Amino acid sequence: MAKYLILGRTGQLGQAFAQRLGGEAVALSRAELDLAAGGLATEVLAAYRPQVVLNCAAYNHVDQAEQEPQQAFAVNALGVRELARACEKRGVFLVHFSTDYVFGLETGRRHPYTENDQPGPVNVYGVSKLAGEYFVRSITPYHLIVRTCGLYGRPGQGGKRTNFVELILHQAATTPILHVVADQVCSPTCVPDLVDAVLQCLERGLTGLVHLANEGAVSWYEFAQGILQVARLSVELRPISWRDRPSLARRPEYSALASMRQDAPRLRYWQFALQDYLATRAAAGWHS
Ligand SMILES: NC(=O)c1ccc[n+]([C@@H]2O[C@H](COP(=O)([O-])OP(=O)(O)OC[C@H]3O[C@@H](n4cnc5c(N)ncnc54)[C@H](OP(=O)(O)O)[C@@H]3O)[C@@H](O)[C@H]2O)c1
Repeated sequence: MAKYLILGRTGQLGQAFAQRLGGEAVALSRAELDLAAGGLATEVLAAYRPQVVLNCAAYNHVDQAEQEPQQAFAVNALGVRELARACEKRGVFLVHFSTDYVFGLETGRRHPYTENDQPGPVNVYGVSKLAGEYFVRSITPYHLIVRTCGLYGRPGQGGKRTNFVELILHQAATTPILHVVADQVCSPTCVPDLVDAVLQCLERGLTGLVHLANEGAVSWYEFAQGILQVARLSVELRPISWRDRPSLARRPEYSALASMRQDAPRLRYWQFALQDYLATRAAAGWHS
């Protein structure tokens, strides 16, 4: 009987938790628990009897969600509702991951959002994730909702299978000039740092809502500059506006996160995390 049950084993975050927790955890893929299928969560919790569920599973395709909102809600809202009910029934602590995309409605925002700020999503994905948060909050007091932002870690074998850092490194190897959006700002967060911070939260007994992201607020353009600098790649980088790159989903112009909670762990500045990630990636020889 493992202490932790991880959902979303094939994704970048689920995979990182599974690796960190080793024998203390059982990690399940969508094939073993499909959150959109309904009716399975109680059975799975009864079978594995964990003390803590780490729900790293999500419908994450931000643009696609505009065209198939039912699928996004089936996983991120209704699937989470059922999971929260099953956890509440069995007294299992639920750690649920949410996103900076629950923000974005506030135009002109230029300082990080904290747990005290009113959410206001601008796309289907963000609304579905916010609905998931509210289901968790209303169903079980025994929870921690972790909002995070711009995740990059070892890419998963499933889920999105990539992240912004991997994308930039790939483009730098294949394209002479990179055009990157300079008017969307967030707090890029390294997965191993997030995993450490979540485990610290659990040790400290945090409940409720917490923002966990590497410190700092950068545009995707500035983040790409940082990646190319650290990786010592001399590729031409040009700033563009999000308006020059039409997409199905509207995205927040500013969605950096910070925590107001005194009991929350502080994650290091984004540049230090990025340096470590690129060094680990190079040493391990893995890529997306
Ligand atoms: N990535 C980011 O930049 C970012 C930013 C902010 C917040 N977050 C949040 O962080 C969490 C982890 O994200 P991530 O980057 O690890 O995502 P990811 O790499 O895309 O992985 C998503 C995982 O969810 C699984 N999944 C999808 N639909 C499912 C379903 N119906 N039932 C069960 N599992 C399902 C996927 O399985 P398959 O392999 O079968 O598809 C995959 O294992 C999510 O809650 C996400 O909303 C992510």
